[in-house]
Amino acid sequence: MYADRIKSAALRNRLMTAAEAAALFKDKMVVASSGFTKAGDSKAVLPALAERAIVDPLKVTLMTGASLGYGTDGALAAAKALSLRLPFQVDPVLRKAINCGEVMYIDQHLGETANLLKANNFPKIDIAVLEVAMIEEDGSVLLTTSVGNSAAFALLANQVILEVNMAVSMDIFGLHDVYYTNEYPNRTAIPITAANSRAGSKTAKLDPNKIIGIVITNKIDSPADITAPDEATKSMAKHLVDFFAFEVKTGKLPKSLLPLQAGIGKVANAVLDGFRTGDFENLTMYSEVLQDSTFDLLDSGKMIFASGSSITVSAEYYQKIFSNFSQYKDKIVLRSQSISNAAEVIRRLGVITMNTALECDIYGNVNSTHVNGTHMMNGIGGSGDFARNAYLSVFVTQSLAKGGLISSIVPMVSHVDHTEHDVDIIVTEQGLADLRGLAPRQRALVIIDKCVHPDYKAQLNSYFERACLRGGHTPHLLEESYSWHTRLREKGTMKED
Ligand code: COA
Repeated sequence: MYADRIKSAALRNRLMTAAEAAALFKDKMVVASSGFTKAGDSKAVLPALAERAIVDPLKVTLMTGASLGYGTDGALAAAKALSLRLPFQVDPVLRKAINCGEVMYIDQHLGETANLLKANNFPKIDIAVLEVAMIEEDGSVLLTTSVGNSAAFALLANQVILEVNMAVSMDIFGLHDVYYTNEYPNRTAIPITAANSRAGSKTAKLDPNKIIGIVITNKIDSPADITAPDEATKSMAKHLVDFFAFEVKTGKLPKSLLPLQAGIGKVANAVLDGFRTGDFENLTMYSEVLQDSTFDLLDSGKMIFASGSSITVSAEYYQKIFSNFSQYKDKIVLRSQSISNAAEVIRRLGVITMNTALECDIYGNVNSTHVNGTHMMNGIGGSGDFARNAYLSVFVTQSLAKGGLISSIVPMVSHVDHTEHDVDIIVTEQGLADLRGLAPRQRALVIIDKCVHPDYKAQLNSYFERACLRGGHTPHLLEESYSWHTRLREKGTMKED
């Protein structure tokens, strides 16, 4: 059957097992892999590499599009096979290895990795492992459920191992739009002027001489962990939907709004789900990850087109989408992450971005990555690419974490991913703070009033009032601004006695 998927007879001679492919890696190699938020990742070769590393130790640098599925990052970390990882991860085992300094981690804007590689600001990729659905006669490949950085890896790697996944339907031919930018100083405008623009090709270029091995697999992507919207996430969605309805009513936005982007996580997914209830029509999406909620919006007819870099959905939705892919084929496109996250395109389209914060401060700075300032959660992902260039940049977070021991609104964020300059709206289940057109002191009043949980309001008001007495454009009591975080570390809660 795989003869249909590997068009060149010469390439069919390069078939091997995952274990044989894993034996091709050497200590200290720079390895790249397909995979973006679990979608289209290596399902055989990297897991085999983790198994090999247990008996035959080696350490590699591993770069991907974003996170891998099936616990592969965790298996590699547990086998001590990783020295450096970039640009994103979500695995608890790898997270632990990163936070104890065993694995170095570069937390990078996802739109920038390919440019960094092309500019030779990083060692050359020795081997790239790419999941594909089909290999053309000339070596070019049909990617699967993500594009991520795969097209760039195929161009830049010295050698390539392909995983031909028989579980991926050939119906996906035409889903991808692989566009290659010219190199600096000869860059030209990326010709994307709407979410549904197509600028590139259906397959990614690959020199067949680079292919050192082909492994056949038959496994679908790890399912996304989707939690049903709860009271808190539903009320955040309501605040946002009401806000957008008002923007439409006052003529600031059309009923189709502007292309939407939504980040990862249960909060962002629930918020997007909320758009099904509003009086909107012909919505579009220019995002990174197409989640369950994207397909609900497409099914409901509220959304007419969605552009992303991966399809990362629950098991139920995977089945629904790919068992009858023709119903979605003309409504979605997958692009390289350097294009889905391109500042130029996000600005041009006027994307409305909705990402999740771990914590925000009273002036609107956002921490999306570091728990208590030091410990990596997942990574910045594409949130920075989108928030900085957005028409309207929204951050959502529940007002409390860990059963109320933590306030998600603090005097000063313990790590900054998104500065006050890139944050327009903050939403918690308590309310929505519209920060547009406000100076720092005004922002603090609105954030405390609208977003803070009642348990922490008096404490935060007290901090702000005393800081104002001392003065400044952005008033702070520097000796006290991290006292909430130190109290959490020492006493297990941010609450004052
Ligand atoms: N301090 C410490 N921990 C906090 C916290 C805070 N202020 N706020 C939340 N948390 C914890 C939660 O308790 C939860 O912990 P658990 O896993 O032990 O239950 C965890 O962080 C996740 O928070 P949750 O409320 O479940 O939200 P989420 O699933 O929506 O994830 C982020 C939130 C910020 C971790 C996630 O959205 C993320 O990684 N964002 C950065 C990347 C990104 O935005 N990409 C978007 C472009 S695709």
